[in-house]
Amino acid sequence: MVTLPRAALLRRPASPRHPPQAFGRRAADSQSPPKPEPVPPPPWGWKVPYAGRAAHVAAPPEYQATTAQVCGLFPFVAGGGTPADGTPVGRHQLGGEVVCLDPLAWLRAGLVTNPGMFVLGQPGTGKSTLVKRLVTGAVATGTTALILGDTKPDYTMLTEHLGGQVIRIGRGLDRINPLDSGPLGQALRRMSGPDAAALRWEVRSRRLSLLMALCTLIREARITNAEEVILSRAIDLLDERLAGTREPAVTDVLAVIEQGPDTLCSAARTSTPVQYQDRVASLVFTLDLLCTGSLAGVFDGPTSNPINLNASMVSVDISRVGAAGDKLLTAAMLCTWAYGFGVADAAAALAELGIARRRPYLAVMDELWRALRGAPGLVEYADSLTRLNRAKGMASIMITHSLADLDALATEEDRAKARGFADRCAITVLAGLPPRELARVHQITPLTGPEQELVTSWSAPDSWQPGARHPGRGKYLIKTGERLGIPVELGLVGAERRLYNTDPEFESFSGWSAANSEVLSRDA
Ligand SMILES: Nc1ncnc2c1ncn2[C@@H]1O[C@H](COP(=O)(O)OP(=O)(O)OP(=O)(O)O)[C@@H](O)[C@H]1O
Ligand SMILES: [Mg+2]
Repeated sequence: MVTLPRAALLRRPASPRHPPQAFGRRAADSQSPPKPEPVPPPPWGWKVPYAGRAAHVAAPPEYQATTAQVCGLFPFVAGGGTPADGTPVGRHQLGGEVVCLDPLAWLRAGLVTNPGMFVLGQPGTGKSTLVKRLVTGAVATGTTALILGDTKPDYTMLTEHLGGQVIRIGRGLDRINPLDSGPLGQALRRMSGPDAAALRWEVRSRRLSLLMALCTLIREARITNAEEVILSRAIDLLDERLAGTREPAVTDVLAVIEQGPDTLCSAARTSTPVQYQDRVASLVFTLDLLCTGSLAGVFDGPTSNPINLNASMVSVDISRVGAAGDKLLTAAMLCTWAYGFGVADAAAALAELGIARRRPYLAVMDELWRALRGAPGLVEYADSLTRLNRAKGMASIMITHSLADLDALATEEDRAKARGFADRCAITVLAGLPPRELARVHQITPLTGPEQELVTSWSAPDSWQPGARHPGRGKYLIKTGERLGIPVELGLVGAERRLYNTDPEFESFSGWSAANSEVLSRDA
């Protein structure tokens, strides 16, 4: 809606019969160049007789109409140009316009060149809340949301509310088999010919790279080339022996390497059993630790609750493994990512063959930094998984507290690759951040001075008053490349207040609302 002032229409022109002094002087000097600039009349007209001065200017009446009706009349009405594609995520902080956001919708509309989104912000600013809003909108429009490693858990209530599947990883809970071909295996069984052969190689390389990533994590150092060769032959051998009757497990790989059949001896380039045992000794201990050490009971058996390919949303809750240490959490995240990206790949392979409908996916990787700092070399693995999402019709949202988290990685190679994650995302969303952090962000996404001031103003706590909310809560700056950022404020509506709440632990001590307690007891 716009309001039209009529003040301009009420200004009276100077009378041509009795021009004001200024005009008269100009008329007399008309012969002598150069001509002075015409002086505009004051608001009520010239204060000379017959110059059309108004004795009284009435307050102009105001008219209201929609912008659709009056945009042609009023010259200053122009939209701010905020995107209207995607899920409404709030109002523009300056213009009040509704702002929509969705990486896949923006890609389809040609607003961005890839569907990657990077969300950065201090704890408690509402990063997960924004992502939950995006997930809700995406699911409503037919996109399958995959929450790949929920460490709190933040997304369980929402997933159940939207009728999705929650997989709870942990000892005594759901298990995940790193060598499970998952949906790719299901796709493989429905394929034949060269397509099947290509997919079989894909499954093999995924199994191998995930197993290597887990071994790297356990050992806190990379595995050697010789060990990689032995591992890959062991996986091939198991595949031949099991012939699709069941998926191999890590315990099977350990057993076959310990047995040392001829194929593995020749792969290890050894001629005697003693030489072979010597060569595989370190690898055997690493695999053993994966099955019996601190990770026992989580990755050493068949997958107990496979991803339902028809679910509208899948959340893999790894919060229970977090208590057992960062290593277990990282391992769970890596397996979850591999499994989740496998879902999208399988769907794309089946759609290409016309066997299944093409489905868009939205993968959410919250607390990304916790997975990457587990061991050197893990960034490379995550990097290879998350590339080429555009081709798969898969959008990804990565969430982290600060780029400093990524800088804390062990090697320069890892740090450069981790910065590449943010670099590759066409959309960057900034919640409240301190100035030192913005200097880092500026290297990846150029920020103007006012943009930096705005984001910094959301970061400092206002006061020490108990119950005061974070000043940046619900405020975000959406940046895409060199374009000016869109400052948006999100307000929660209806059930969102209950479903997106991540503070229940604290609030339950202080008489937290009965509605939330009810939800928790129902979930338990
Ligand atoms: N716009 C908003 N209005 C009201 N409450 C909000 C808003 N945004 C977030 N909250 C509330 O603030 C709390 C923290 O939000 P959220 O968990 O999304 O923050 P976060 O940035 O993801 O935090 P962390 O970094 O710890 O994961 C939640 O209880 C959420 O419901
Ligand atoms: Mg969060």
